[in-house]
Amino acid sequence: MTIEKIGIDKIGFYTPEFYLDLAELAEARAVDPNKFKIGIGQDEQAVLPLDQDVITMAANAAVQILSAEDLAEIDEVIFATESGIDQSKAGALYVQRLLGINPRARAFEVKEACYGITAALQTAYDHLAAHSDSQKVLVIGSDVARYGVATAGEVTQGAGAVALLVTRHPRVLVLEQPSAYFSEDVMDFWRPNYSDTAFAKGKYSTEQYLRFLDIVWHDYQTKTAAQLSDFAALLFHIPYTKLGLKGLRQLTANSVTADQTALLEQFTKATLYNRRVGNIYTGSLYLSLLSLLQNSSLPANSRVGLFSYGSGAVGEFFSGILQPDYQVASQLVDVQAMLAQRQRLAVTEYEAFFNQKLPTDGSKFSVPFISQHAQFRLRGINEHQRIYE
Ligand code: HMG
Repeated sequence: MTIEKIGIDKIGFYTPEFYLDLAELAEARAVDPNKFKIGIGQDEQAVLPLDQDVITMAANAAVQILSAEDLAEIDEVIFATESGIDQSKAGALYVQRLLGINPRARAFEVKEACYGITAALQTAYDHLAAHSDSQKVLVIGSDVARYGVATAGEVTQGAGAVALLVTRHPRVLVLEQPSAYFSEDVMDFWRPNYSDTAFAKGKYSTEQYLRFLDIVWHDYQTKTAAQLSDFAALLFHIPYTKLGLKGLRQLTANSVTADQTALLEQFTKATLYNRRVGNIYTGSLYLSLLSLLQNSSLPANSRVGLFSYGSGAVGEFFSGILQPDYQVASQLVDVQAMLAQRQRLAVTEYEAFFNQKLPTDGSKFSVPFISQHAQFRLRGINEHQRIYE
């Protein structure tokens, strides 16, 4: 049986137009700025305005990469989020309407913390492998990470969405099988329905992340006989870059210095965007992939290893091969320009943004026009329904 080439053909990304400088946050919280910059490994964080939510961010990420042909040929839309707007209705349906995607598509939402989008990507792979008449699947991860003003997790907040067009003969990354995955009921991070901020056992969550990495990497090696030297780059779920760096150090502890240096160099390129956006939860690993693709010049056919982790918890290690046109195909979104045009907020302004909330009592509400550069915005709430434009 011939194994079909299936994987990521295009990557879109959106992050809000506002950010917080973490050196200023450190000053306001009376913390040494080096704790945030070096100890956590973050420089800036995206701040979500009231006229953006996970639906608009998802649509803003996907609209940049989809052609009219793509819209007609997509027959599955999978929306991954842990900060969804509805307990029942899938975010995928809003995005399908806003973008004008083929109605003869299966559209649904998945959740497993930051692992959700990887579950969606592997489901997209299986869908294309099982249905020879299916051409394209749209996978989206969209989240806002909120821990609370002056909490330990505050420095790791962020917001953004990643859109992946998954096809046969993709131009960016062919996914390889098998992967290795591990799941266990762990209370390291969670968000009960009544809370709009997450609960985290900070240090314990980092230990679980590294434990899951160890398990899935060894299972992956057992399944595939792969060695670290087979990989040109290793990518990680990035709640903050220091934890990814710890993951890299754990995996490469016994590698020769030249290999450690080469992988560290790629890791640095793969985390440039994450340093400035913060944790976007489920999209974070794929923002790191985009950062690598746009800032590195690895040769085509290089193998990339990816570690996905979602608290709760599920981990997966999988791999992909960079395609001959990956450098051109991964430039559809100008992330540098998107980051450069953001407006910096003072700490007090960020706190005001953070504390602004949509009504939860069903009252009619009109959202002011805030995001100047976004194609999609939340306009208001009427009769318990969010109105988008
Ligand atoms: P904390 O208590 O503020 O930080 O919490 P700390 O005291 O542990 O310090 C952090 C690091 O800064 C330490 O380095 C310090 O030594 C260093 P490490 O020991 O880790 O190598 N440090 C300094 N470095 C340089 N100069 C200085 C200085 N001072 C201290 N002056 C924590 C940090 C990440 C725990 C907190 O921010 C938090 O709870 N964040 C939220 C939870 C989180 O992100 N967990 C990650 C794993 S779980 C995950 O990835 C899933 C997730 O994305 C959710 C999902 O799946 O949906 C979160």
